[in-house]
Amino acid sequence: MIGGPTPLWVAAFNTTLIVVSGAFLAMGYSFIRRKRIAAHRRSMLTAAAFAALFLVVYVARALLFEGKLFAGEGLWRAVYLAILGSHIVLAIAIAPLVLVTLRRALRGDYLRHRPIARVTLPLWAYVVVTGWVIFWFLYVGPS
Ligand code: HEM
Repeated sequence: MIGGPTPLWVAAFNTTLIVVSGAFLAMGYSFIRRKRIAAHRRSMLTAAAFAALFLVVYVARALLFEGKLFAGEGLWRAVYLAILGSHIVLAIAIAPLVLVTLRRALRGDYLRHRPIARVTLPLWAYVVVTGWVIFWFLYVGPS
């Protein structure tokens, strides 16, 4: 245990990992819309690798440093807590969804990959965007 508050660079690095995973997610989607399966596969596997890396850094950070509490009050606090709550619930839910989505794709079961992928993708995107928003709330503004 190193202790103390999470250094800004650690939080920024962690957030960058999840944002990069989101960028590959978006690229992967655009590839499959153009039927570029090999590029879709590469992008999605890279997105999953960055998300896994994010998880490792996130857990290490939680073990090594103190969490940061949002200092804002009133409406900002209510908005922050609503975003944080939905982010946490969905972040936990997408882990098994991503694994099943990947497994179906890697087994060539595209018929069943597609419907679950259409659920996984928007939820994953929501978790990425809200992850960045939470970072913004805690380290940039509005408090
Ligand atoms: C968790 C990672 C992945 C996500 C979130 C994902 C997402 C998606 C989405 C949203 C679609 C539907 C596109 C549409 O409706 O037009 C799709 C289709 C497809 N994906 Fe993935 N994908 C992932 C991984 C993979 C991998 C690793 C492969 C391996 C080749 C793959 C192969 C395909 C194929 C072939 C289709 C077309 C299926 C069809 O139209 O019948 N996907 N994917």
